[in-house]
Amino acid sequence: MLETIAIGSKDRVFVLTGAGISAESGLPTFRAEDGLWAGYNVEDVCTPEAWQRNPAGVWAFYSARREAGFKAEPNTGHVALAELEQRLGDRFFLCTQNVDDLHERAGSVRLVHMHGELAKSRCERQCGRPPVEDRHLYSSLEEVGRCACGGRLRPHIVFFGEIPLELGRIEREIAKATLMLVIGTSGSVYPAASFVRWARQGGARTVYVGLEEPLNATAFTQIVTGKAGETLPGLFQVE
Ligand code: APR
Repeated sequence: MLETIAIGSKDRVFVLTGAGISAESGLPTFRAEDGLWAGYNVEDVCTPEAWQRNPAGVWAFYSARREAGFKAEPNTGHVALAELEQRLGDRFFLCTQNVDDLHERAGSVRLVHMHGELAKSRCERQCGRPPVEDRHLYSSLEEVGRCACGGRLRPHIVFFGEIPLELGRIEREIAKATLMLVIGTSGSVYPAASFVRWARQGGARTVYVGLEEPLNATAFTQIVTGKAGETLPGLFQVE
């Protein structure tokens, strides 16, 4: 029997996605045997120290991820979430850990990228200027542009050890949620892995959808095992 999730007319839905929702679009996850962290050391490409030590290496890693991300297409899982947003309007909010733009390209609008975005760069200094659209694939450090303040442009990605983006808005949206839906994330990284417990404390139903149980499985009231692209399209019973 196909599992379904009932969404009532008073429900407010908070969705958190991770790399698993982009897997069927051909983008690697992080912690699978063939995942991104199998081929690279986080310390070499995704920390402030890595940026200071070897900015060329960091740009090579993120240029390769840009190339893959821009070639990928949204899958039926991304589309199912965009359609759910269409039906719920401002009773829907999507927070993604992913830095690809597949949610946007599937039609999602009420969305934040808490770990940054591949298609943007920002000044390496805290000069206060906002991130800029940047889809370049850099093959040498000399090609990388500079901010008006003189700082070098870096990927607009939250490195390990840095503070995720939009946490205030995320907390406010979780406080309003009556249903939290977490999709395709192993629950390895904080604070994202805490969101489900914050929602439980607020009395929300909490549902996980993914290939295998996440590390924070005990915090969920329901676990739906399966691929996002196959499971999400028929999952929601909207009142
Ligand atoms: N459908 C649903 N879930 C899937 C699918 C799929 N087709 N394929 C894989 N998964 C699940 C895996 O079972 C795994 O639990 O997606 C999860 C991916 O986990 P991770 O690789 O740890 O990725 P994620 O949880 O998004 O990582 C969080 O860690 O490295 C940092 O900043 C990076 O945002 C990232 C954060």
